[in-house]
Amino acid sequence: MARTYAAITGIHGFVPEYVLSNKELEKMVDTNDEWIVSRTGIRERRILKVPDAGSSYLGIKAVEGLLKKTNTDPSEIDLVICSTATPDMMFPDTANIISDRVGIRKAFTFDLHAACSGFLFALTTGAKYIESGGFKKVIIVGADKMSSITDYTDRATCILFGDGAGAVLLEPTEEPIGVMDSLLRSDGVGTKYLYQKGGGSYHPATHETVDNKEHFIYQDGKPVFKAAIEGMADVVGKMMARNGLAADDVSWVVPHQANLRIIEQVARYASFPMEKVMVNIHKYGNTTTATIPLCLWEYQDRLKKGDNLILTAFGGGFTWGAIWVKWAYNP
Ligand code: UT7
Repeated sequence: MARTYAAITGIHGFVPEYVLSNKELEKMVDTNDEWIVSRTGIRERRILKVPDAGSSYLGIKAVEGLLKKTNTDPSEIDLVICSTATPDMMFPDTANIISDRVGIRKAFTFDLHAACSGFLFALTTGAKYIESGGFKKVIIVGADKMSSITDYTDRATCILFGDGAGAVLLEPTEEPIGVMDSLLRSDGVGTKYLYQKGGGSYHPATHETVDNKEHFIYQDGKPVFKAAIEGMADVVGKMMARNGLAADDVSWVVPHQANLRIIEQVARYASFPMEKVMVNIHKYGNTTTATIPLCLWEYQDRLKKGDNLILTAFGGGFTWGAIWVKWAYNP
C-alpha cells in the first residue's frame, strides 16, 4: 500500500498591530538599542493590547485567515492542535476556544505544550494523525501572547519576547511531499534554566507567588544559548544524514527565532548560507510557538513545490527538534 504523507496545503499568520520598539524599551528598563540588536538581532516586537484578549485571539485570527485562503469550510476540519506556552486558561484548552470561535464543530481539539519547540511537536503529531489514514484536514496553530508572562522590569527577558500566531493546514497525499521526517528530543536538565514557576499545581497562585514574580518567565540565558546551538545543530545534522540530504539539497532553513546569533551559528554548523535561512526576529522577537509558522507565512511567496525545508527549534524543557518538510505547492 502506498504511504500517505501529510502535506502542508496552506499557511497563515497574524501579529498584533502595536509595535514595541527598542527605543520604547529604553524608557522602561536599563537597556539600549545597540545592546539588544547586537546581542539578539531584535529591533521591535508586536504586543497584543486588545483588552480581555489572550493567545486564542491571535490563534483565531491565524485560523480564520487560513480557512479563508484555503477555501475550507470549518465543518471539514477533523482535528485542531494548538501549541502554546501561554494558554488562555489552565483549561479548557486554547485549541478548544479557537475552534469554537471560528465555527469548527466536528473536530476534536487539544493543546500541546513544548515551549518554543511546540510547533514542531504539534506538526509531527498532526502529521501522524493524517498518516494514520483516518483524518483528512488537520490544523496546527501556534499562538503565544508572551507579553502576558513577561516582566517589563526585567531587562534580561523583556527585550526578547513578542506576541503572534501562525497556522497550517495538513492534508493527506500519496505524493512524496509534506512532512517527510522529524526528530524530536526532550531533556529535563533544562527545567532550571527556563521556566514560569507560578500558576500551575506546583506553585498555585497566591499573594506570595505574585510578590515573588513567579508568574513571569525566568531565563538563565547563557546555558540556554549554548544548549540551543548544540541541540539544534545535532538534530539537524542527524536528520539530514539519515535522509541522505546535503546542504545543497535544502532550499530553506526555518529556525526558531530566539536569537540571531544562535540562528547564525546553527546555520554555520550545518553549512547553510544565511541567504537560505528564514529570519524575521528583527520584526517580531521571540514569539515562542509562533516563530516558525510566522516565518513560513512571510516567505510563502518564495516557496516552490518540491523545495526541501528544514525546520528546527529549541526551547524550555529543554525541548528541541528538526523536521524535514517538502513544500507541497507553488505560490
Ligand atoms: O526561545 C527559547 C530558548 N531561548 C533562547 O534560545 C535564548 C538563549 N539565550 C540568549 O539568547 C542570550 O543568552 C540572551 C540574549 C538572553 C542574553 O545574551 P548574553 O549575551 O548571554 O548576555 P548575558 O545574559 O550574559 O549578559 C551580558 C551582560 C550582563 O552584564 P555584565 O554582568 O556583563 O555587566 C547583563 O547584565 O549584559 C547585561 N544585560 C543587558 N544589558 C543591556 C542583560 N540584559 C541586558 C539588556 N540591556 N537588555
